[in-house]
Amino acid sequence: MPATVLVVDDESLIRWTLAERFSADGHAVVEAETAKAALVRFGSDIDLVLLDFKLPDSDGLTVLKTMKAKDPDVPVILLTAFSSIETAVEAMKQGAYHYANKPFNLDELSLVVQKALETTRLRREVKALRASQSEPYAINRIVGESAPMTALKSLLLKVAASPASTVLLRGESGTGKDLAAKTIHYSSARAAKPFMNITCSALPDALLESELFGHERGAFTDARQQKIGLLESADGGTVFLDEIGEMVPALQAKLLRFLEEKAFKRVGGSADVRVDARVIAATNRDLEEAVKQGRFREDLYYRLNVMQVNLPPLRERVLDVPLLVNHYIDVFNREFRKQVRGATPQAMELLKSYRWPGNVRELRNAVERAMLLTEGEWLTADGLPLSGARASTAQTMELPEDGVNLDALERELVVQALKRTGGNQTKAAGLLGLNRDQIRYRIEKFGLDKPAAT
Ligand SMILES: Nc1ncnc2c1ncn2[C@@H]1O[C@H](COP(=O)(O)OP(=O)(O)OP(=O)(O)O)[C@@H](O)[C@H]1O
Ligand SMILES: [Mg+2]
Repeated sequence: MPATVLVVDDESLIRWTLAERFSADGHAVVEAETAKAALVRFGSDIDLVLLDFKLPDSDGLTVLKTMKAKDPDVPVILLTAFSSIETAVEAMKQGAYHYANKPFNLDELSLVVQKALETTRLRREVKALRASQSEPYAINRIVGESAPMTALKSLLLKVAASPASTVLLRGESGTGKDLAAKTIHYSSARAAKPFMNITCSALPDALLESELFGHERGAFTDARQQKIGLLESADGGTVFLDEIGEMVPALQAKLLRFLEEKAFKRVGGSADVRVDARVIAATNRDLEEAVKQGRFREDLYYRLNVMQVNLPPLRERVLDVPLLVNHYIDVFNREFRKQVRGATPQAMELLKSYRWPGNVRELRNAVERAMLLTEGEWLTADGLPLSGARASTAQTMELPEDGVNLDALERELVVQALKRTGGNQTKAAGLLGLNRDQIRYRIEKFGLDKPAAT
């Protein structure tokens, strides 16, 4: 693995010897005679530095400090003519990778350099990997430009930036609670530390307790070894407790103590364990109702409720539907190697008027299925797997044997649309594929604006 090595020494014979050796090892060698020249040359292309301790214009330790401040990842190997334990210790303290005494064994030095370069490469790879891991959860990956989503995104960033810990995410199924939790974590100063995730309803109570808080050896029959729980593993990072409403009261008490004191005991343990982890809890349940019924502790409810983030249902931000549809068309074009260009205007209207009880997840699935099945360049209304919505579109309604009263049917549909939208004429019009003037005309025609009519 060829690298660029900076050799800093005022003795030209030593520079020459080192340059010969490291060129032979396949590296590019850059030379500097003074501290000043070394610091001028030290830049992003340098992978490793061999640094003489005694320089005409400065000492190696000072140069080392300056280099470490500029780029702590580049390994610096200090070379010196005389050995002194104190200097060696000080060099390592300042972040030197290694310390070699002159006259040095070139083979040994070559091995040290090789190891240092390998370590740096790995460290850089880990950094790049972390960055690419958090990238899918960057705030701009949350699709939505409606007012509620714009507000949500700025709130998520504020929450991420605040060190203050607990967050409660609320929203119907599929509104993006998982996504929001990860976005908070990966946009926060905790991003490089672990994100741990557990669904409270997925495990029996006793198991949930030991998963979360860990247990001591012998805590129960099967506990042959000590186990570190999720909270401890997430030290410095974030724990996401999904479906918090399903947690039993005994565990709720233990969680509350952790939120208040940052401490807990492992199952079967007597010592307090202290952990710094932000807790993000989520629920799609009515927690207030659970508190009333005594299933959820009121004190925990208030503790969690300090920072509440609500994820709006999709039907309340119809503006985002076309954005999401196009986003998922892009995603599945790539995944299925298709070239779908979009949805037809009728299909888009249908998608916008649908109620989306499963929210973004349902929309994603609907687009995925339509994309799998389509042969054409455009997604059509017929190709959309929205059973409820399609039954109410004219295309699939069959004329009964003995016919219908079209006028009465039209009136009935207008009444139902108004009922469903709580009397919002614009939204009702949307459900019927009409504009506001068209629905107003019908409201008047059928006398629906008179109080007794519906
Ligand atoms: N605003 C958004 N932009 C892009 N993708 C989104 C958005 N909201 C949700 N999604 C996607 O929708 C799917 C469902 O979201 P998520 O799993 O976060 O929902 P949830 O609220 O946790 O649902 P549940 O309550 O069922 O667990 C995921 O694939 C997620 O990436
Ligand atoms: Mg979820």
